[in-house]
Amino acid sequence: MTLQEEISRRRTFAVIAHPDAGKTTLTEKLLLFGGAIHVAGAVKSNKIKKGATSDFMEIERQRGISVATSVMGFEYRGRKINILDTPGHEDFAEDTYRTLTAVDSVIIVIDGAKGVESQTRKLMEVCRMRNTPVIVYINKLDRPCKDPFDLLDEVEKELKIRVRPLSFPISSGTTLKGVYNIYEEQLSLFTSDERQTADASTVEIRDLKSPLLAEHIGERYAAQLRDDLELVQGVYDPFDRDAYLRGESAPVFFGSAVNNFGVRELLECFIRIAPAPRTATAESRTVEPDEPKMSGFVFKIHANMDPNHRDRIAFLKICSGTFERNRNYLHVRSGKQLKFSSPTAFMAEKKSVIDYAYPGDIVGLHDTGNFAIGDTFTEGEKLKFTGIPSFSPEQFRYIENADPLKFKQLAKGIDQLMDEGVAQLFTSNLNGRKIIGTVGALQFEVIQYRLEHEYGAACRWEPISIHKACWIRSDNAEQLADFKRRKHTNMAVDKHGRDVFLADTSYALALAQENFKDIRFYFTSEF
Ligand code: G4P
Repeated sequence: MTLQEEISRRRTFAVIAHPDAGKTTLTEKLLLFGGAIHVAGAVKSNKIKKGATSDFMEIERQRGISVATSVMGFEYRGRKINILDTPGHEDFAEDTYRTLTAVDSVIIVIDGAKGVESQTRKLMEVCRMRNTPVIVYINKLDRPCKDPFDLLDEVEKELKIRVRPLSFPISSGTTLKGVYNIYEEQLSLFTSDERQTADASTVEIRDLKSPLLAEHIGERYAAQLRDDLELVQGVYDPFDRDAYLRGESAPVFFGSAVNNFGVRELLECFIRIAPAPRTATAESRTVEPDEPKMSGFVFKIHANMDPNHRDRIAFLKICSGTFERNRNYLHVRSGKQLKFSSPTAFMAEKKSVIDYAYPGDIVGLHDTGNFAIGDTFTEGEKLKFTGIPSFSPEQFRYIENADPLKFKQLAKGIDQLMDEGVAQLFTSNLNGRKIIGTVGALQFEVIQYRLEHEYGAACRWEPISIHKACWIRSDNAEQLADFKRRKHTNMAVDKHGRDVFLADTSYALALAQENFKDIRFYFTSEF
């Protein structure tokens, strides 16, 4: 197969959702359809359950498993599909954001009874930043759901994206009759005896006036469906694939993942419309996937929790060319040439050494602590891919050394954990103390535990009251200097020496933005 053929058959995406909407269940059903797994439950074990905050060992166990399911690749109808797993727990939201930098499209799962939830909104913001094409799957139709038109309005308004239903539900909850697949002009009937086992039976109904419709779902629901579909045609623009690919319009499917319902339709449509690997943006230029030379970036680093084998796996997303085993590549940040004798690929539950990988693929590279999130590998060009930002953290604590004899170990541990993207480190201008900023409270526990078990270092946390950290920049040097002088006690630098303003309260932040008009405040580290 040529490089071009390999590229055009690849579909790399993530399933994202607010916790509990059904992301794990849907992922699992997609894998079952793809023949990648044969029993349910394989993905489920990866999940960090709600309320796991107190059960730290459980998280450790889960982390071990999650390497295997980080990337789930499988073949389906001639396509090579790569599903990138994202952590369900909200405290690991930043891992999810970074994974989104490595996908070409996403499927967003929404609970039909709850509608759009907070995490769905945040994830969509990240998709919007990158114009990632989005398909929406409204789940749990077997439960009493909100009115479908209300749900569609809610998605449109809350996620700020145009929607186009490609299927439409016939009732929900105990009276759920089925889903009409607008895309394929087929009726999928929901029959409870098929629960959990197979896909629902489908009937092809191209003419909605056909008496067949009422035969299957009854007169009342048939009339309702006709009205609903008429309204759909009247209200929504026809499906426009280009608008979908530009991230402006989201096709919407309805179903019930746990019942395997509406999943096949979703997958069939997905492989037809979802994009193959797309152009990647580097600082100096854009990179096309079919360029002959290999390039890729690290979007995730997974540490081995075993203190005797403190090695890590760096996940490399291939952006262009063909990646080959045992070939020298430039690690751009260090300027070193490195070669990998056992790069791994992930096929559902199995991990195997590969000889070649193509754009869209994710390769696991063995790392002894030298790689960081965002690192680029090339055949010699000094590329730096953009769009892998750090997000402004929301929780902060001073980190102190609790064992003076282990100073070096602590410094090394902090440094490597920051490279892995576990949290962000700031150094206060006021007193030179180190501040750790995270997205969720759980990370503090993770850091303390890992420093102790992997690096033999001990840390202590001390409270600090900060509302938000933001990076600042200005072309007005005088105003910037004035700001830094006046806000001296609230200033810090990040790991790369960039200025960061630590706002005490949202009011202080708003006031600073108001009073210093020439200063730009950034809530992601990439600008
Ligand atoms: P998540 O990864 O998005 O957090 O959600 P997950 O798939 O784990 O699903 C959350 C809960 O919702 C699970 O129940 C799951 O079985 C259920 N669920 C998923 N899809 C559907 C659906 O279509 N209909 C209904 N009624 N429920 C659905 P749980 O009780 O939390 O877990 P479990 O004990 O069933 O494993």
